[in-house]
Amino acid sequence: MAIEKTEKIWLNGNLVAWDDAKLHVISHGLHYGTGVFEGIRCYNAASGPAVFRLREHMQRLHNSAKIYLMPLPYSVDELCAAVKETVKANKLDSCYIRPIAYYGYGSMGVNPAGNPVDVAIACWPWGAYLGEEGLKKGIRVNVSSWRRIDSAALPGMAKACGNYLNSVLAKQDALQHGFDEAILLNTQGKLAEGSGENIFLVQKGELVTPGLSSSVLDGITRGAIIALANDLGIPVVEREINREELFVADEVFFTGTAAEVTPVREVDGRVIGSGSRGPVTEKIQAAFFDVVNGKNEKYAKWLEKV
Ligand SMILES: Cc1ncc(COP(=O)(O)O)c(C=O)c1O
Repeated sequence: MAIEKTEKIWLNGNLVAWDDAKLHVISHGLHYGTGVFEGIRCYNAASGPAVFRLREHMQRLHNSAKIYLMPLPYSVDELCAAVKETVKANKLDSCYIRPIAYYGYGSMGVNPAGNPVDVAIACWPWGAYLGEEGLKKGIRVNVSSWRRIDSAALPGMAKACGNYLNSVLAKQDALQHGFDEAILLNTQGKLAEGSGENIFLVQKGELVTPGLSSSVLDGITRGAIIALANDLGIPVVEREINREELFVADEVFFTGTAAEVTPVREVDGRVIGSGSRGPVTEKIQAAFFDVVNGKNEKYAKWLEKV
């Protein structure tokens, strides 16, 4: 998806012009993938622009940094304020927000110590990641031949730049074969997640999703969907899931900041359910969009006004 350039980017405490937010080619993060980042959305909610679960995202950024012993120079509070300042400066009602912290320029070699930790926050208008039509009708996916990175090798709980080479391979492979998105199994052959989304199955009226020990990111949308399903009286089970359960599920959908709630209508050439958005997915999707658009009082706490 092409990036629509905006005016300002927050870089190490200052708002700078979009074109001036540059890094040195010898930056450690570029060579070794030593960065952590977030993907956040700001919605044009009923009472004005609001960032969805901002604090949770910034807490996860801090956790990702902690896993990698990366000293973040800004607190969760400071980062939340910086995000709001950036959205405001760009006069955006709704947008995607990308905060990133990475080891910059200073010393070379695998050990990142000795490099500054640079922090940037950019935002720009962004539509549906897997397409407007995908949100309504569902998308076609394959189970990738690439396995989701095992936390014994790279901690999946950290939203770290280097992890995404795994997602890139799976996504490229899916697109090359004419699919919209990939599902990755973990090294045990159990269901993990999409290249940038968590996954849910609907089986006999229940939601089933891989647990956090299945090598998945602890998705903030995933958590929101579990809470909303509880409110709707839809049971949620977190467990190991076999590949073939996908094929015979009543419904399948992805969740994520970018993907929001995207139905899956086909997996590996098998039509899922009726081959379109299923009724449970539709209910969950509607509940999710009500929350992010500020139409559910109970979750007003998840919307941080800009
Ligand atoms: C690999 C992966 N899994 C799951 C998700 C969904 O997480 P969230 O709902 O916090 O955006 C993302 C996106 O951030 C992701 O990149």
